Amino acid sequence: MGSHEHGFFARTDPVAFGGSEAADPLSYRWYEPDRIVHGRRMEDQLRLTVCFWHSLAWPGSDVFGEGTFQRPWHEPGDPLDRAREKLDVGFELVRLLGVPFYAFHDRDVSPDGTDLKGTLSNLATIGDHLEQRQNETGTRLLWGTANLFSHRRYMAGAATNPDPAVFAFAAAQVRAALELTHRLGGANYVLWGGREGYETLLNTDVKRELDQLGRFLQLVVEHKHTIGFEGTILIEPKPCEPTKHQYDFDVASVYGFLQRFGLEDEVRVNIEANHATLAGHSFEHEVALATALGILGSLDMNRGDPQLGWDTDQFPNDVTEVARVLYHVLAAGGIAPGGLNFDAKLRRQSIEAVDLLHAHVGAIDTCARALLIAERILADDILPGEIRARYAGWEDDLGTSILDGSRSLDELAAIAAAAPDPEPRSGGQERLENIVSRYA
Ligand code: XUL
Ligand code: CO
Repeated sequence: MGSHEHGFFARTDPVAFGGSEAADPLSYRWYEPDRIVHGRRMEDQLRLTVCFWHSLAWPGSDVFGEGTFQRPWHEPGDPLDRAREKLDVGFELVRLLGVPFYAFHDRDVSPDGTDLKGTLSNLATIGDHLEQRQNETGTRLLWGTANLFSHRRYMAGAATNPDPAVFAFAAAQVRAALELTHRLGGANYVLWGGREGYETLLNTDVKRELDQLGRFLQLVVEHKHTIGFEGTILIEPKPCEPTKHQYDFDVASVYGFLQRFGLEDEVRVNIEANHATLAGHSFEHEVALATALGILGSLDMNRGDPQLGWDTDQFPNDVTEVARVLYHVLAAGGIAPGGLNFDAKLRRQSIEAVDLLHAHVGAIDTCARALLIAERILADDILPGEIRARYAGWEDDLGTSILDGSRSLDELAAIAAAAPDPEPRSGGQERLENIVSRYA
């Protein structure tokens, strides 16, 4: 047990690998950090991350009811002492799970002060604590971010606020969070535009708000270079909630936005499973598109519920879905410097400390098992081979001459007129789905 641990989880031994037949529910059946998967250690392929927001800061409240968890650090007390206690439990959780990374919002780890100066001073104090814990435990920071959506000053947005003073306040907050992330050796910095959208177009100047958001992002990228931060800046798409409409709606919208502001080589996406669902896409779609566009950054593995139309942020447990996602990730060369994090909430009735362990152990094993399946799909080369065969014509003279721009519409019309009509071929979807099912 580490020197600053509080024994919150009532166990000191880390969760161990027990093999696929392990009887202990708090053991890993698939997660084996040192196992080599597709050329890298499993730990380095998955880069698993505990998120402090939902796992520690969220009290188990919902729109109809108060917090159910009643964690010790949610009791009244000195805010900085409570914050340190919460962080210590976070590092205890990371150690027990044996994962390499954590991730946080500034407000997850450090309380608001009475004014900006006090808030920034709290963050600096807590930053010392984080640095100390990282050094003691060897835990690394996958990403930091700033909460620009909870405080009432941000009710009409942060960068997209009608009041430039709020923009400046958000800039001060992001500057501090980015610098802390840099100081802590963070691999990435995330921006999620929680309220960068609108509630009604009746009071919204969309063009102006998009320009504001673009400028904000440019400022963050400029500052990253000024301070020498080498991590990746990430945007996390989400279509709505809490706003009616969010400008970083999905991967495709974010890419268009980045291009418009000249940032497509500077910023990547942090894709969340549940946000894909809310956008009417699959997680697989968002990841495949991001790899196609060259902007895949990192993954929030938390999923939604098929029947509930909101962001339920559940821990992942669908191996096949995750395998299809990780297949695209591996095919694109892996997720680093991003990682797979669990920006996930327990269900509100899961009030025991041990529930946090069960949730993470299941999620970690889901990712590990899915990674092994993705590795086999790639190694067998059946699906990639099917795709190569399907597009083989594009490697021939006709296909290459179309794409290199050397054919006019007139020439193509002449080619089509001289050839027999093309024969349709089966897409074979059911056959391919069967192939994937057999890997699970
Ligand atoms: C909100 C959400 C955030 C981001 C980071 O839906 O997913 O936690 O991951 O701000
Ligand atoms: Co998220």
